[in-house]
Amino acid sequence: MSGRHGPLRAGEAVLLIDRRRRRYVVTLQAGRVQDIRGRFAHDEIIGGDDGGTVRTDRGERFLVLRPTLADYVLDMPRGPTVIYPKDLATILIAADIFPGADVVEAGTGSGGLTMTLLRAVGPTGRLYSYEVRDDFQRRALRNVDAYLGSQRHLVARLHDIYEGIPDAPVDRIVLDVPEPWRVVPHAMAALRPGGIFLCYVPTVPQALQASEALRTAGGFALVETTETLVRGWNLEGQSVRPAHRMIGHTGFITTARRIRGRWQTPAITARGADASNIADEDRVAADDEATGESDVGPLEP
Ligand SMILES: C[S@@+](CC[C@H](N)C(=O)[O-])C[C@H]1O[C@@H](n2cnc3c(N)ncnc32)[C@H](O)[C@@H]1O
Repeated sequence: MSGRHGPLRAGEAVLLIDRRRRRYVVTLQAGRVQDIRGRFAHDEIIGGDDGGTVRTDRGERFLVLRPTLADYVLDMPRGPTVIYPKDLATILIAADIFPGADVVEAGTGSGGLTMTLLRAVGPTGRLYSYEVRDDFQRRALRNVDAYLGSQRHLVARLHDIYEGIPDAPVDRIVLDVPEPWRVVPHAMAALRPGGIFLCYVPTVPQALQASEALRTAGGFALVETTETLVRGWNLEGQSVRPAHRMIGHTGFITTARRIRGRWQTPAITARGADASNIADEDRVAADDEATGESDVGPLEP
């Protein structure tokens, strides 16, 4: 599905949505007849517009759309859990992924983050994606190919990133592996000065261990951890309220900048914490909030 414009083509995956918002992904094949609460021919969709409709022989109507990347990531065949679109979006900005960037990613998993990074680095960038399981890698590459088409700027390696980063130097390192702190020494060697390390982990102990490794490595600054909450709203007539359900917890994103030399950061850690430090930091933050001050000033013209 490399072409995102023009009429829908045989071989493309399309998203069918019924009036009750139920979603079905089908791959269009000339001559094929589909049965989803009634029959319709794929030929009725092929050659039509993105955003058109199709009606089954039982009168059911479906909206026909090219899936967005977020649609595709949630609906594609997967093995390992993919990163939710809200976190994929945050990762792109938190890691400052730019067109032309050289990026290392691990693990490839089902390929959701891989596709997101590939689109952001564009054809002038390069993505090195490492995975330890060849069955996962094969499925991920099929997913990438099905959605983005062949990607010359993707280098997929069967490689354990805990053993090292053979593709250096790079601008960004983006990790979705269980023990990202084991990558910190390799990231020190592989990242260009000013480069960004980012890891995504589901639990607090993992986020803490990654932050501690970055803080004590002696070559990183601005170590920060965030989580992203997105709450939908219902805006219909008098029913104006937050949605009843939301994706609660997914994961924590920790980022750091590779710097030259050492940068002293206060030792605010659970183990060996200096309580006066914590109290001071919290008080400064509260004061800034109250007075509207911040340590970020306007850019010089
Ligand atoms: C949660 S999945 C990644 C999902 C992926 N981000 C996506 O969006 O589809 C974690 C992946 O990391 C791989 N992995 C675990 N340890 C690894 C290592 N040391 N080096 C490379 N890949 C690793 C696992 O095999 C698994 O496929």
